[in-house]
Amino acid sequence: MPSNLPEFLEFDPFRDPYLADPYVFFAKARAAGPVFYDPALDYWIVTRHADVRRILQTPKLFSAANALAPLSPLCPHAQSILTQASFSADPVLTNADPPAHTRVRRLANIAFTPRRVAAMEPFVRDITQRFMRERFANGRVDLIRDLAWELPALVVFRVQGVPAADVPRVKAGAESRLLVMFGHPSQEQQIQLAHSMASFWRYAKELVDARTAQPRDDFTTDLILARDHDLPALSRHGVTTVVFGLLLAGHETTTNLIGNTMRRVLTDRNAWREICRSPESIPNAVEEILRFDSSVIAWRRRTTEAVEIGGVAVPAAANLLLLIGSANRDPAVFTDPERFDIHRANADQHLAFGLGAHYCLGAPLALLEARVVLEEISARYPGMRLTPDQTLRFLPNISFRGPLSLLAEWDG
Ligand code: HEM
Repeated sequence: MPSNLPEFLEFDPFRDPYLADPYVFFAKARAAGPVFYDPALDYWIVTRHADVRRILQTPKLFSAANALAPLSPLCPHAQSILTQASFSADPVLTNADPPAHTRVRRLANIAFTPRRVAAMEPFVRDITQRFMRERFANGRVDLIRDLAWELPALVVFRVQGVPAADVPRVKAGAESRLLVMFGHPSQEQQIQLAHSMASFWRYAKELVDARTAQPRDDFTTDLILARDHDLPALSRHGVTTVVFGLLLAGHETTTNLIGNTMRRVLTDRNAWREICRSPESIPNAVEEILRFDSSVIAWRRRTTEAVEIGGVAVPAAANLLLLIGSANRDPAVFTDPERFDIHRANADQHLAFGLGAHYCLGAPLALLEARVVLEEISARYPGMRLTPDQTLRFLPNISFRGPLSLLAEWDG
């Protein structure tokens, strides 16, 4: 199948300028059409809000089976490293379809309760205050290195029962998994990443084994013990897969959310002043950041039969790349979509957390973390500004997006 991307639209998602600012491509693509086929990726690219929304809400026609698959197939050597570690990509939650997904999601909801999320607020506030005290020194900070990189990991690890000392190890494992699934690594890199991912998988397995032997008050134990009426419990492998998933989804996304948040509010001085003056504007500001600068800019589905998307015929078993970042700036839904507006009335119609049966399990936790961080920094450092002339860099992958470093400064 040849490309039907108009010639003026160059789609090169693993390199600048796309990595630095994919929104230029999104605006052009969305205006040019609802769906394009890219032969290099072998994906159909979906650009508009109404189509992305419908696809996420119609699992019968659009399966999640490819959601976590490596974007390009792994070389046999990398594959064998993962097989030897008994890693298997069997569908359990994120890449499962109903009815199997429905059952596991119910168990995950039982273990990941609103009570567990709400109970994290004092902890999030404490860590933010501690990092500000210890790391924000001499009027300068790297908001990623000194705050956003570690904070969400400490939070979700506490939920899951992972020791804080393991943050660097798990962060490294999570990044290798991310690049395997959503990046475009060379063969040599694939082998290195597969080793790191295999050890990350073993780590998740050991955690589940330890909690099976000795239950504690944490999500991992609750997931092992969760029961949905008289249905059988989740298997050890099922629990490991969910726990392994959270060891990535639970912090990389939120590191990016905090990075994108600080970047946007410190750039827009009116928004920043208002946030400092009226902290009650923060929750809607966070929704607008998720819309305007989504931490997950693309997600995947596969057609289960031949379908039409936005009037374009798409065959059965076609891989779809849903451009969430583009949907979130669709003028059909958002007035003046390229404008960042913390008062936007319908900001929460963004699709940053997905929609429907797979709607992000951790959305309430992510929102809580971004709100608390913003409350604390704006209260303590109203004079903070971005350090001028810095070039932001982003991890070369198709989905997860946030600056790798973000320098800020203040007087006094
Ligand atoms: C800014 C932060 C976050 C963003 C942007 C985000 C985004 C997403 C997206 C786009 C999906 C796929 C939804 C779909 O297929 O319809 C998803 C699913 C998921 N997210 Fe998040 N996420 C974030 C934070 C978190 C956190 C903090 C956790 C856990 C503590 C988490 C756990 C999950 C899980 C387990 C799923 C799969 C749910 C299922 O398949 O039923 N996420 N997330």
